[in-house]
Amino acid sequence: MLLVSIDVGYGFTKAVTDSGHRTSFPSVVAPAHMDLFNGIFNNGVGHKVAVHTLNGSQEKFVGELALNSTAAQHFVARHEKPADMHDLLLLTAAYLCDAGSFSAVSQRKDDLVVGLPLSFYRAQKDILKDRLSRLSAWVSVDGKEKKYISFNKVMVFPQGAGALVSLGNMLPKSGMIGLIDIGTYTTDFMLFEIKNGMPIPMPDACGSAEAGIYLVQRAIASEFEKQTGSPLPQRMYQKAMEMARDGKPISFESRNIDLYSEWKQAQKEVGETIAGHIMALWGDRTGFLDMTVFAGGGSIWFGEILEKIFSNSIYADDAVFANAVGFMRMASGTKKP
Ligand SMILES: Nc1ncnc2c1ncn2[C@@H]1O[C@H](COP(=O)(O)OP(=O)(O)OP(=O)(O)O)[C@@H](O)[C@H]1O
Ligand SMILES: [Mg+2]
Repeated sequence: MLLVSIDVGYGFTKAVTDSGHRTSFPSVVAPAHMDLFNGIFNNGVGHKVAVHTLNGSQEKFVGELALNSTAAQHFVARHEKPADMHDLLLLTAAYLCDAGSFSAVSQRKDDLVVGLPLSFYRAQKDILKDRLSRLSAWVSVDGKEKKYISFNKVMVFPQGAGALVSLGNMLPKSGMIGLIDIGTYTTDFMLFEIKNGMPIPMPDACGSAEAGIYLVQRAIASEFEKQTGSPLPQRMYQKAMEMARDGKPISFESRNIDLYSEWKQAQKEVGETIAGHIMALWGDRTGFLDMTVFAGGGSIWFGEILEKIFSNSIYADDAVFANAVGFMRMASGTKKP
């Protein structure tokens, strides 16, 4: 039996298993079209996913492959993730992590653990758990053999808590610890008092802010539009941001559009915006932190700014996967021997 931990983020889907598999891809879905070249240009950057359930069959592009489509579908900021898209991303990640079995009869049922943003956790954890417990489908990714995926036991944890647990014995035995998980659209943050090695959350200092990497992407997109008169399609936001950071100009209508200084400015402004949201709740406790943990993909983009603001900062190992790894630890701690 396998334990699969999946973090379906607004920007990226991340998954790890207790057998050492891991995968990540952009949380993007698009209608699949026929491959006129019959695979000769397929560089393996996927994925084409076929899903068959009792409600019917569908074939979609997921992740990098979907990004090239003008019909690419992203999650919408601040909104609950639509169930069908969420579950398609989850099934794809599960398949890529070797979950499921080739026969529905001699099934190997896997355990699943997922997270929810703190702001949705209380209201939705039971609904999500229930839906995922009932999920079952035949799934094939990139033309490989179909597998039957359904889950035995489903656990739902709050995001951010995962990242804290991922630190393992790097956590001090006592003191006050801040955790900042910066994602694509949301930043989850929490304050913990460690007593006898147990982290106790301070409820009035835990929350979610609607700020993340997306704000930088938007700033870069709006500068692109200012310079060219054309909007930058959303599916290119991530790539444009990486190019801006690396000082590589974007080629558009035979011109080179350089967005490096826009990136530096947005990094500073958005980093300070995020810090402002957090400090509003942490208040004067901010100065007394024994450790500030940065996690999430955004910690890579804003760490430089936040390090100057928060004390004793450290980065979760593998920041992007920190929640997925932590959920897995939390879940295996509860697994009966
Ligand atoms: N494999 C990777 N390599 C490099 N950068 C990555 C990788 N995966 C994610 N990122 C960066 O991290 C960002 C996404 O961060 P993260 O996965 O923490 O957000 P999310 O969990 O999808 O968002 P949210 O928490 O708002 O739901 C991307 O925009 C990208 O810049
Ligand atoms: Mg996240």
